[in-house]
Amino acid sequence: MQDEDDICMCFHVSQRKVAAWIKREQPKVASQLSNCLGAGTGCGWCRPFLEQLYRQWKDGEPVELSVELESYCSGRERHRERRKTE
Ligand code: FES
Repeated sequence: MQDEDDICMCFHVSQRKVAAWIKREQPKVASQLSNCLGAGTGCGWCRPFLEQLYRQWKDGEPVELSVELESYCSGRERHRERRKTE
């Protein structure tokens, strides 16, 4: 993922916004990332990735996903299709 790519596609929250928010707000738990423009509160696809970004920050690592945007987007589409049939 690039910094400008949306981690939360439901609310158009980019990786750059998430990383900046984490550094500024210093959240105690990953679930607080929902306060970053509603990230993770839509379809739910991005929640594990938000948690990953949070862990990276906690561990002092670069806050960035190594997944390719195309596979991230197609994974989200499959996730949304599964939710429709549940
Ligand atoms: S992609 Fe973040 S809640 Fe849907």
